[in-house]
Amino acid sequence: MKWYAVPEISPSAEPFVKKVKAGGKNICIVNYEDKLYAVGATCPHAGAELSGGWCKDGKIICPFHRYGYDLQTGRGNPGQNDFIDSYPVELRNGDVYVGIESFWDKVFGK
Ligand code: FES
Repeated sequence: MKWYAVPEISPSAEPFVKKVKAGGKNICIVNYEDKLYAVGATCPHAGAELSGGWCKDGKIICPFHRYGYDLQTGRGNPGQNDFIDSYPVELRNGDVYVGIESFWDKVFGK
């Protein structure tokens, strides 16, 4: 796994959902109840930008048709049968980093 700095995000006490690019991927960084999450930026249902959504009960809610995805696991609500990617996030000396596995990491289990 490789860690990528996300300089456009600064830790904040305010909740936010922001789209960034890291490791060649479009990712939403979410600050929800004083914890940072990183999930895929595109809704698998019909392609909406999840950065236009909001959070409720530990899920990010898509602004188009209100499908919900768990911020921790990316799993869709029961009955949706879909998911979004989720990524580990770390704060290092006040900077936000997102961990992204490459294809080869997955193949070789790194
Ligand atoms: S596009 Fe996200 S719920 Fe339909």
